[in-house]
Amino acid sequence: KKVVLAYSGGLDTSVIIPWLKENYGCEVIAMAADLGQGEELAPLKEKAIKTGASKIYIENLQEEFVTDFIYPTLKAGAVYEGKYLLGTSFARPLIARRLVEIAEKEGAVAIAHGATGKGNDQVRFELSVKALNPDLEIIAPWRLWDIKSREDAIDYAAARGIAIPVNKERPYSMDRNLWHLSHEGGDLEDPWNEPKRDLYLLGAAPEDAPDEPTHLELGFKEGIPRTLNGEETAPVALLAALNEMGGKNGVGIVDMVENRLVGMKSRGVYETPGGTILYQAHQALEQLTLDRTTYHYKEQVALRYAELVYDGLWYSPLREALAAFVDATQKNVSGTVRLKLYKGSCTVTGVKSPYSLYDEEFATFGRDGVYNQKDAEGFINLFGLPLKVKALMEKKTGLR
Ligand code: ARG
Ligand code: SIN
Repeated sequence: KKVVLAYSGGLDTSVIIPWLKENYGCEVIAMAADLGQGEELAPLKEKAIKTGASKIYIENLQEEFVTDFIYPTLKAGAVYEGKYLLGTSFARPLIARRLVEIAEKEGAVAIAHGATGKGNDQVRFELSVKALNPDLEIIAPWRLWDIKSREDAIDYAAARGIAIPVNKERPYSMDRNLWHLSHEGGDLEDPWNEPKRDLYLLGAAPEDAPDEPTHLELGFKEGIPRTLNGEETAPVALLAALNEMGGKNGVGIVDMVENRLVGMKSRGVYETPGGTILYQAHQALEQLTLDRTTYHYKEQVALRYAELVYDGLWYSPLREALAAFVDATQKNVSGTVRLKLYKGSCTVTGVKSPYSLYDEEFATFGRDGVYNQKDAEGFINLFGLPLKVKALMEKKTGLR
């Protein structure tokens, strides 16, 4: 019997390997996904085998991550609870997709993951696996075993003579990829505690950022960023470059108390430097190129889209249908956006598009040919008719 495990090389997923073999009598195949977390994954090969895995797959998923998961969400403009740019939420369905592919290739019967029983990640992994292959079993050790702490985990491994990584970890639960880095737990659990100034790993705290702003220019085609400062740039390289520029200037730090799907609130601090720049730029371009009703309708869609992604429903018919709607809106979202990054802020300083619906001629207070001010009177009379009818009724009945 084979089980495929989502493996990070950290303490938890290392202990899961012997635990699975002991409790299921199975062979464990590890899968480590490179989503741009900035860690060397090659050493995991030896580590996983030493810990008892029969085999390890190290998968570079960075490009798929950007094009299949980040870009659709960026085009949707999806933001969870007004702040969170979903960096962990849309990484899980990608990891799950590759786990399922490997399980099918290897003839495995189950998928295992190291997410706890209290969080969102377990839901995202498992809903994705169910959607992609309903025959695969799912094993979530955190919901089953007696290990309750780091110390328990270390003892468990030591008792079995298994070498596990005991590098000194930060007190935070973190998740890092090309899009973001999340921090939860430790002193952050009390929302009254301001994050320590040295918390940030992708860049500087805004107050430590340079006194000179950074200027940049992004070119979009159909809602997708293609050029940086005039140069055609591939998806992964573009995001990496924006992370560098944004991070240096303290851009994209979010501190929030969010509602988890599983019921409790949790406090998180997120670093999303490049992502914040892309969201700002994309929105500025939509403001220029989308008509009013499409723009407003899309704002509603963005809310629902964000909930679906957060809730682990990436592979749901509704998420896919909303993505199709979003794509239909992006045909003219092409053009160039200029931005300024400065001590935590990201400001659009210029925007232009060949498909712009903004026309100085129409907006100007001078004379023009398309807008007759006399037309406004009739428009207001009809638009305001329901208000007038109600006011007349109230007057007649003595309600006012
Ligand atoms: N609260 C965020 C979310 O639900 C981040 C989760 C981070 N996950 C982790 N295993 N550290 O998307
Ligand atoms: C976890 O509990 O595994 C991490 C946090 C989350 O999934 O929300």
